[in-house]
Amino acid sequence: MENIVALCKRRGFLFQSSEIYGGLNGFWDYGPLGVLLKRNVKDAWWNDMVMSHNELIVPSGAPGTYEMTGLDCTIIMHPQIWKCSGHYDLFHDFMVDCRETKKRYRYDHILGRFVLAPSLATHIFVTTLETENTQTALEDAALKFFGLRKKDLDKLQWEGEIMSLPDAMRSAGGAANVLGPDAKTPGTLTEPREFNLMFKTTIGALGTEEDTAFLRPETAQGIFANFKNVCDSTRLRIPFGIAQVGKSFRNEITPRNFTFRSREFEQMEIEFFCHPSQSAQWYAYWRDRRFAWYIEMGLAGERLQLREHGATELSHYSCGTADIEYQFPFLPPGEFGELEGIAHRGDFDLRSHMEGKLVKEGCELVLEKLPNGQPKHRGSGKDLTYYDDLTKERFTPHVIEPSAGADRATLAFLCEAYQVDTAPDEKGQPQERVYLKFHPRLAPIKAAVFPLVKKDGMPEIATEIYGELKKHFSVFYDDKSAVGRRYRRQDEIGTPFCITVDGQTVQDGTVTIRDRDTLKQERIKRDELVKELQSRNF
Ligand code: GAP
Repeated sequence: MENIVALCKRRGFLFQSSEIYGGLNGFWDYGPLGVLLKRNVKDAWWNDMVMSHNELIVPSGAPGTYEMTGLDCTIIMHPQIWKCSGHYDLFHDFMVDCRETKKRYRYDHILGRFVLAPSLATHIFVTTLETENTQTALEDAALKFFGLRKKDLDKLQWEGEIMSLPDAMRSAGGAANVLGPDAKTPGTLTEPREFNLMFKTTIGALGTEEDTAFLRPETAQGIFANFKNVCDSTRLRIPFGIAQVGKSFRNEITPRNFTFRSREFEQMEIEFFCHPSQSAQWYAYWRDRRFAWYIEMGLAGERLQLREHGATELSHYSCGTADIEYQFPFLPPGEFGELEGIAHRGDFDLRSHMEGKLVKEGCELVLEKLPNGQPKHRGSGKDLTYYDDLTKERFTPHVIEPSAGADRATLAFLCEAYQVDTAPDEKGQPQERVYLKFHPRLAPIKAAVFPLVKKDGMPEIATEIYGELKKHFSVFYDDKSAVGRRYRRQDEIGTPFCITVDGQTVQDGTVTIRDRDTLKQERIKRDELVKELQSRNF
């Protein structure tokens, strides 16, 4: 992972936000290549899910035909939206504070292990946030606490396995023996407290409590709030999906693992509205369709998995949820991180925005009420049911929600693409080669154009070719240093093809085209370059 992070900074994929002022935790800037990569990820998603969808034919695995459209909603919406959706009351994480270091941690992110402290005649739960080399980090913490050296490692008497802080506090009955991740004395962590993840802001100049608004923590609610507008302004018939790509904000307690858990990130979400009798089939369709998309985009292999949630893991409104997960290199072996969730949300969302905040009572969703019988959070009162004029039926559509993170997908594509092999250098000597094996659709630069040398008419022809290709693709011109080094520079940023103008080009109008992955070079006519590159899967 360190190599990937270093490459991202060195070659301009990702920078820490506000780095010149020491950085801002949980915020990331995409550099010149990163912006192209992430845009390609979002464009591929939008194109494959919305633009190229043909509503006249039944896609493979789908229960029938369906339509797709899009929206671009505001980041700040009416605060009542978050009250009815449940985010205002329920979008919490538990956090603990350290009274000694004044640091704040997400309760379930702290890992630790009990170790015997003979001097205190008790067990201390030493802790860390490190998930990759947890045991090593715990050993370092324990040695530091006992004032021991590395060579004294065998003096540590461990008890039980590594576990999370919630499990340890449950088994030890409190935080008295817990040594916080950065603390010097045990017992400085507070009891866990709830922390709402929505960022607050103020609308207008008065700044009273009534002017409080929230930065959206998901794009989905803008789609539900516009369901009626879309139905009224288009001829879309159920089943149909509304897609949206945009920023979301969550005040994560412990942002970490590069861009994986950020405080500002982008989501790519679809809310798919269907008849309740067909929702189970549509759920299965979207789950499989979305999983197949990641494979098509290059995440094939054992690092990608589809995990169906068990009954206890489901949200109170969900009748089925699956996560698409990727084994990111910063996770411990065997652990996977969520890329996308596909949820069967029933009629929860549309009913919430009609009636008000709902809670589960037995198997039913009912309006949550205050002790005086009034709704806790009142809905819009607008009719968000759907009338099918063919069947003459009125119903509240069910929703299937494939919700993906653009930054997590981009990070997974980067991690999967990172490859090291051995390839001959310009002198024919085998050298280690680092390259990014992006799918050509995702590669920031599709092709690089080089004159072999800066003379004999080659730069003039290469410049012409560059100009022609630039009308169609993102291409790069390079005439600096030996051609072998130029190839390496492009390999390292994942450019799938390098086109070289050489002596033969001047004679017969052909160029070489080199494949990043196979290193094979072919000669083709320069006039056929556009068609050739297009056929190579952009
Ligand atoms: N509307 C449903 C929803 O927002 P979610 O599982 O909370 O569901 C969906 O988020 C996706 O958004 C996740 O699968 C992940 O890819 C991305 N995501 C969520 N929180 C994130 C964070 N803090 N940083 C980066 N991506 C995040």
